[in-house]
Amino acid sequence: MADFTEQNRQYFDKMASTYKDNFANVVESLSNLTRDRRLWMSDKWTDTEAGKGQEIKMLEYACGPGHVSIALAPYVTKVIGLDVSDNMISEFNKNAQEANLSDKMTGRKGDLLAESFSEEMNSPEIFDFDLVVISVALHHFENPGLAMKRLGERLKKGGVCFIIDFVPAQHHEFDKEFAEAGKTVKSHGFSREQTWELFEGAGLSEGFEYEVIQEPINFTKDGKTFEKTIFVAKAKLV
Ligand SMILES: C[S@@+](CC[C@H](N)C(=O)[O-])C[C@H]1O[C@@H](n2cnc3c(N)ncnc32)[C@H](O)[C@@H]1O
Repeated sequence: MADFTEQNRQYFDKMASTYKDNFANVVESLSNLTRDRRLWMSDKWTDTEAGKGQEIKMLEYACGPGHVSIALAPYVTKVIGLDVSDNMISEFNKNAQEANLSDKMTGRKGDLLAESFSEEMNSPEIFDFDLVVISVALHHFENPGLAMKRLGERLKKGGVCFIIDFVPAQHHEFDKEFAEAGKTVKSHGFSREQTWELFEGAGLSEGFEYEVIQEPINFTKDGKTFEKTIFVAKAKLV
């Protein structure tokens, strides 16, 4: 595992069991946002004309405790959550079970940014997805361009990639409070142009959209609240 990924693994392993409670309003905002954007990101779901009766496979990469997967799982047939943190994967599987979704949701430890893949990451189950989702995680990857390419390789032709991340901003107070997290962050947000370049570089060039969400999300630490503006983006693999 690359050093930067290992730093992320250690940091998120430590916070996995408290993440959902510590960032309860972030988790709720991301879940609601994802659910609300479902038909914006794709027309292929188990309850839509385009998807009814078909297998619809979703991958959530860097899935954390799984709230975004839980928001979409009722409308797909299978969800795989991958994360480098074992403890996040335990949380993902526990939360899936509590939501009565463990028949279709499985979390696995996996690193798709590694130089070479484990046998498990090369198995057919981890390919041919209809949808790949990356929520507030792209800024934690050492090489977001490589990450997008690796994730693009996991999509079916015509499959959709959906991203939630931060818009570029200076947040000195936020960075000070979350200083330890700073060691795990590589990019301080992505503009429309940067996001388009990442998508296009991965062959995801059809139907690209990037939308800034007007309502910021609130991170609370030690009684202080920090606002972060996020965007959603999507495009299809051609
Ligand atoms: C800020 S959390 C986001 C979790 C969740 N997606 C969400 O929306 O709240 C970032 C996640 O990315 C994972 N992560 C960091 N680097 C990674 C990498 N190279 N590959 C896979 N997962 C990674 C961390 O373990 C952590 O669970």
